[in-house]
Amino acid sequence: MNPTVLGADMFQAMSTYVKDYQDAFKAAAKVVLPSVDQIDHVVLTGMGGSGIGATLVEALLRDSSPRPIVVVKDYHLPKFVNKRSLVIATSYSGETEETLYGVALAKERGAQIAAIASGGALLDFANAKKLPHAPVPRNRQPRAALPLLFGSLAGMVSTIGLGNLALAGEDETTLSNRHLSLQPRLAGAGDDALRFAEQIRHSRPVIVGEAHLWPVAQRWKAQFNENSKIFARAEPIPEMNHNDLVAWAHGPREKGDLLIQLRRPREPNEVRARFEFLATTAKERGVPILTSDTQCRTPLGQCLDQLMVGDYASVYTAVLRNVDPTPVEIIGSLKKRLQEQGLAKEARKRLGLPSPS
Ligand code: PA5
Repeated sequence: MNPTVLGADMFQAMSTYVKDYQDAFKAAAKVVLPSVDQIDHVVLTGMGGSGIGATLVEALLRDSSPRPIVVVKDYHLPKFVNKRSLVIATSYSGETEETLYGVALAKERGAQIAAIASGGALLDFANAKKLPHAPVPRNRQPRAALPLLFGSLAGMVSTIGLGNLALAGEDETTLSNRHLSLQPRLAGAGDDALRFAEQIRHSRPVIVGEAHLWPVAQRWKAQFNENSKIFARAEPIPEMNHNDLVAWAHGPREKGDLLIQLRRPREPNEVRARFEFLATTAKERGVPILTSDTQCRTPLGQCLDQLMVGDYASVYTAVLRNVDPTPVEIIGSLKKRLQEQGLAKEARKRLGLPSPS
């Protein structure tokens, strides 16, 4: 496989994965933000590749944050949003209409607002209103900017005092070894991501995760959709044990069935039992199972490690299927169609920004 042709830009974007997280974290940690005493709740908004960082942050801080953190992936904000709320909006392009509309509502409710963007209306608004913001470098696909977007958001919430999402030194070596093992080699590689891709290329994978690895499962699903251009599903443990599990036990095995389990060290006994039960059920129907493990010790390290494996696996899957992982024209077409309806325009107007020329 020659990655310098298909997927080269994605591999390039992933070449500084952990450093991107750390650099963005450090830069965002310097942004002047309200302190925890000035806010009653935090709302994190963003769509697709720009929203998954919010899902990760919420899952990582759920047990420790002194303030509720709510993730919104839609146009509207919860009714409770008021001047004691902090709304942090992330949009890589800065032009996503759901996110802009939410920011317009936040402004009208008098909420405190912070932004993460590489440009567009969101960055213009943040600059014009002198709002706290973290600009990220341009020229990537939004989803390929995840370490930058996630690192920026992690830096912001850590500065506010909602938790500490600085990467622990003890995980740095594990992550850098993993990153090295994922690199494309001209003669092919025996690493997890490529090994997984060889099976995933012919399948409709179901990725199962729990706790802080549940958002990682959602990211794998989205990366297989967008990079590999295949259907995929993500299911959370324990919730899936109360519904999806039934389907694993019934009916003939279907072509393309593949179970991927995202595991971590020191799983609680009840979690291990659930994964093992699911694996046995799937195996009895002849469904192949892939397990992605991590050696990282902290929840954040485990997320970054498993994110890298999924991201690389999705690009390898694209390359093996001979499709270009980068373009997602259909998303662009939808955004264009929606522009004609004018909600983005309305959001701009409510934000006091000129219409795009
Ligand atoms: O990965 C992608 O290209 C999409 O999922 C985008 O992230 C999504 O459409 C939102 O756009 P943006 O990230 O520019 O706000």
